[in-house]
Amino acid sequence: MSVLSRRKSIPDLIKESEAGEHTLKRTLGSMALVALGIGAIIGAGLFVRTAAAAGAHSGPAVVYSFLIAGLGCAFAGLCYTEFAAMIPVAGSAYTYTYATLGEFLAWIIGWDLVLEYALGAATVGIAWSEYLNNLLQQFGYSIPYQYCHSPFQSSPDGISGIINIPALGILLSLSLILMRGTQESAFINGIIVIVKVFIVIMFIALGWKFINPVNHVPFVPENTGVFGDFGFSGIIKGAGIVFFAFIGFDAVSTAAQEAKDPQKGMPIGILGSLVVCTILYIAFSYTLTGIANYKEFGVGAAGHEASVAYAIQKYMPGYGWLSLFITVAILAGFSSVILVMLLGQSRVFYSMSKDGLIPKIFSELHPKYKTPYKSNMLLFLFVGVFAAFVPGDIVGDMTSIGTLFAFILVCAGVIIMRKIDPHIARPFKTPFVPLVPILGILVCAAMVYGLGIENWMRLFVWLLIGFVIYFTYSIKNSKLNKKP
Ligand code: ALA
Repeated sequence: MSVLSRRKSIPDLIKESEAGEHTLKRTLGSMALVALGIGAIIGAGLFVRTAAAAGAHSGPAVVYSFLIAGLGCAFAGLCYTEFAAMIPVAGSAYTYTYATLGEFLAWIIGWDLVLEYALGAATVGIAWSEYLNNLLQQFGYSIPYQYCHSPFQSSPDGISGIINIPALGILLSLSLILMRGTQESAFINGIIVIVKVFIVIMFIALGWKFINPVNHVPFVPENTGVFGDFGFSGIIKGAGIVFFAFIGFDAVSTAAQEAKDPQKGMPIGILGSLVVCTILYIAFSYTLTGIANYKEFGVGAAGHEASVAYAIQKYMPGYGWLSLFITVAILAGFSSVILVMLLGQSRVFYSMSKDGLIPKIFSELHPKYKTPYKSNMLLFLFVGVFAAFVPGDIVGDMTSIGTLFAFILVCAGVIIMRKIDPHIARPFKTPFVPLVPILGILVCAAMVYGLGIENWMRLFVWLLIGFVIYFTYSIKNSKLNKKP
C-alpha cells in the first residue's frame, strides 16, 4: 500500500473505541441526538448571516437560499449517515476518511475541518460580540466601536476598528470551561436548545403580523450586473452564506460512539435535526425580511449587526421585552454553539495527534481533569486571532467554504467506498447511490462557486499550508508509518 493511501482498519478502529477505561458510554437516544444537533446548528447563521445574505445578495429570496443550502445538507447528511453508522466511533469525517480513503485524504479533511470548527467558533464569537453590544445599548451603554470591531471595519462615521475584545472574552471563557471538563454541559445544553427553538418560534409567531408585504416586493430583486448581487446568482451566493446556519448537524455524527443504537439513532439524529431546522429557517427568514426591508441589512446599513434585535426594536412597537429576551437567549445560544465547535475541534486534533499527524501536545491530557487542556489553550490563541482581528463576514465565508469542501469529499467517499469495499457491513445505506452523492457534490459545488474567487483563494492557500505540514512533518511521524 502506498504511503499516501495507508488506511486504518475499521475493525481495529471499533476495537480501539471499545477498549480502555475512557470508553464513552452509550447513553444517547434518538431524541437526545436530534437535540444535540439542533443545539449545534441554530446560532449565528440564523441570527446574523440571514440578514447579511439578504442585505447584500439575495433580498427576500434568502428564503430560496435556505432551501438550496438545506437540500445540499440533506444529500451530504445521507452520506455522512452511511459513514457514521458504518464506523460508529468518536471523531468525524476525519476518522471515516482515515479508515476508508487513506491517510492523505484524511489529513486533507482533518486540516479542512479546522476551517469548519475553529473559524466557525471565531465567527460565532464575533456575532456574540454584536449582540452583547446590542444588549448593552438596550440599557443605555455601549462598547466603543474600535474595541468590538476588527481593524478592517469602520463605522458609518469613520471610526476604524482595532480589536474585538468581547469576542476574545467569550472564547477565552468557554475555552477555560472546556479545560475543566464538560460533564455538566449536556444538561445546560438541553436547556439552551429548548430556549433557542422557543425564541425562533416566538419571533415567527409574534413577528408574522408585523410583516409588511411591500418589503417582499420584488421577492427576487433584480441582479445589479455583478455576479452574486441579487437575482439568481445572488440566491446561490446567499446559499453559500446561509449554509453556515446548517453547520453543526454533522456534529451528531461525532457522537456516534455515545449513541444507544447508532444504526437507527444516527439517521434520525442527523436528518431529523436538519428537517426541523430547515422548516424553522424558512419561516424565520420570511418573517425577518417581511418586518424590515432587506436594504436595511446591507453592509454598513443600520440593521447590519444584531439584525433580529434591530428589526424588533424598530418595527415591533411594544415588544421591547421580546427584543431583550431574544438578545439574552441568543447570547446563551451562541455560547453553546461555540462550545460544541471548540470541543469538536479539540476532538479532531486529539485524534490526529494520537495518529501522529500533528504533535503530541494536542493529545496531552490534564492530570486531574482529563481534558486536552494544552490543545484548548493553543486553539484559543489561534481562534482568538481571527475573532479579534478579522471581520465576521470573512471568517464566516471561510467556515462555509471549508465545510462545503469536506461535504464534497464525504459524498465522493461514499461512491468510492461502494466500489473498493462493497461487502463491508453498512447498517445504513445512502439511498440511490451514486445519484444522491452526486447531487450532494453538485449542490455543494454550486455553493462553493457562489462564494466567489476570494474565498476559493483562501481555501486554496489553507490547503497549501496543510500540504506543506503533511509532507514535512505528518508523513514521517504518522503512527502507521511506525507499524511494521
Ligand atoms: N450553525 C451554527 C451557527 O449558525 C454554526 O452558528
